[in-house]
Amino acid sequence: MINVRDRQFEAYQAFLLGCKLHWTGRIFPELHALYREKAGRAANAGTPPREAEDAAALLEGEPLYRQFAWLERHLQRFKYSGRWGLQPAHDRLRGEIEAELDAPLPPGILELDPSLEVPTYFASVDIHQHPGGIWSDPIAGYVYERGARSTTPLMQQHKDLHWKFTALVNERRRGRRILDMGCGFGKSTRPFWAEDRDAQVTGIDIAAPCLRLAAQDAAAAQARNVRFLQRDCRRTGLPDASHDVVTSTMMIHEMPPPAIREAFAEAMRVLEPGGLMVHLDFIPPDEPFMRFMHFGHGRRNNEPYMEPMVRMDVKETMRGLGFRNVETIDFEEMPGALAARGERWRFPWTVIVGEK
Ligand SMILES: C[S@@+](CC[C@H](N)C(=O)[O-])C[C@H]1O[C@@H](n2cnc3c(N)ncnc32)[C@H](O)[C@@H]1O
Repeated sequence: MINVRDRQFEAYQAFLLGCKLHWTGRIFPELHALYREKAGRAANAGTPPREAEDAAALLEGEPLYRQFAWLERHLQRFKYSGRWGLQPAHDRLRGEIEAELDAPLPPGILELDPSLEVPTYFASVDIHQHPGGIWSDPIAGYVYERGARSTTPLMQQHKDLHWKFTALVNERRRGRRILDMGCGFGKSTRPFWAEDRDAQVTGIDIAAPCLRLAAQDAAAAQARNVRFLQRDCRRTGLPDASHDVVTSTMMIHEMPPPAIREAFAEAMRVLEPGGLMVHLDFIPPDEPFMRFMHFGHGRRNNEPYMEPMVRMDVKETMRGLGFRNVETIDFEEMPGALAARGERWRFPWTVIVGEK
């Protein structure tokens, strides 16, 4: 796979990552300490914070909060759009990347549908501040892949998380037909086809540039048990009861609640009775500061459905559609992460499970 090899780009991105680590490990805990102090005073005055809005009222005017919020917004902007950002660096390699994407593929590994309509909820925002989103530019999959390497800056191995999630799903699943909804450039799909060569894995997404990279990547690894289809997860066109497991990773929070409900209903349709639906996503604890931080992240990172997703009752929605044994599980993306909650900024990783 073509990688940007440019010392100025590398130095600039390393500098931004250093700033992000400072923001994660130094500014966040200071802000949390400030919040605790103010929340304590408010409680003594008989008005303890109960909701995210109460935490906002305590913190929004604080210079430390403003610094935190500014860095969250603009470090991400610089990462993508600054002079040595991801987009211009990949623009300089456009010809090479497009040639790699055009390389012949084994039959059946990739099926694109140019007539597929990109949903308005998705096209109307440049998600993650990625210029043009991850669907409109042929090289967007590469830009996204490089960007995703530092999405979770505390993790040394950016890929560990997906393998860990796959291990959890593999422990629980009873069949081998797996559907990965919103598979992106295939990072969440890869552990399923690589860990178990008997698994039959389908990755679907609406973003053709990502699917093309996923397919090239799988073909380069000589994978024989995966295919990538350009489909909307709300209307996959796949046969009824054709899968044992439906998963997604970081997709749900990118959809408005009515679309989430449709995706769950579609999962129910394509699952075999007894099959599992398992999503890895973000649900913060029901605590004002954590929720305020999480909702702010959604606003600052151009992820407008993050907050509505948390406010919808995901479990009740699933039960209403007929899922049984519905549960949410805190997901420890790396050892010690849950015990250290609140000490450093982290995504509130949560596994959402239901059985047909
Ligand atoms: C944050 S990305 C996660 C990608 C991948 N699962 C991973 O973990 O790297 C969310 C993905 O959901 C996809 N997506 C959003 N809405 C979708 C829909 N209605 N149908 C299929 N994919 C969708 C996006 O195109 C994007 O690739």
